[in-house]
Amino acid sequence: VIEIARGAEAVISKAKEDELEIVVKDRVKKGYRVEQLDAKIRKERTKLEARLLREASRAGVNAPRVVEEKGTVLKIEFVEGRRVKEILRRENIRDICSKIGLSVARLHAAGIVHGDLTTSNMIMKDGELFFIDFGLGFMSSAIEDQATDLHVLDEALRSTHFEIAEDAFDAVLESYAKEYDKAKDVIDRLGKIETRGRYVRRREKD
Ligand SMILES: Nc1ncnc2c1ncn2[C@@H]1O[C@H](COP(=O)(O)OP(=O)(O)O)[C@@H](O)[C@H]1O
Ligand SMILES: [Mg+2]
Repeated sequence: VIEIARGAEAVISKAKEDELEIVVKDRVKKGYRVEQLDAKIRKERTKLEARLLREASRAGVNAPRVVEEKGTVLKIEFVEGRRVKEILRRENIRDICSKIGLSVARLHAAGIVHGDLTTSNMIMKDGELFFIDFGLGFMSSAIEDQATDLHVLDEALRSTHFEIAEDAFDAVLESYAKEYDKAKDVIDRLGKIETRGRYVRRREKD
């Protein structure tokens, strides 16, 4: 068992179980919370993350298969690939960002909000895009929640891929709009969220 990450909420390790490479996500105790409430919250988050992973697959989005879910421990399939964070560049914007847009569209159409759409939470494996880390996700079909989901992605692109962020996000929105019938409402709301953003300015130009 090798620890691969330690986030604010969970310890992530890689292990092998019955010849299968898995990732074990164990939500650890938060010191400042009352013990019993803390344990309850961690179990509920684990259960919800497992559910969101299954719902995402059902909606046609590649996500790691849930191997086991027990208490605060979630075991999922290890996705052998490279994080979009490490590979996104000008030359592959079209390819990768159209896949991101399609996947987000499918999630939203299914009433799933990812909650943490960053390029660290996306893995490319054999030309296919996988979404991981539904730890901040929830079920919602509210336009505001979906617009916020996209806003998080925009911010993530701007902070991690600043040179290509605008083109990348435009490509995401283009494919999102093609794939999702409520996209216009969501993108309009996004414009309101990003008040000083380019969407507002662009619409004024149109
Ligand atoms: N199923 C998986 N397959 C491959 N790598 C994973 C998987 N799950 C997590 N990781 C790796 O571990 C890192 C942290 O896991 P993540 O679920 O995003 O937890 P956190 O909530 O701490 O961000 C990811 O950025 C990724 O590199
Ligand atoms: Mg993460």
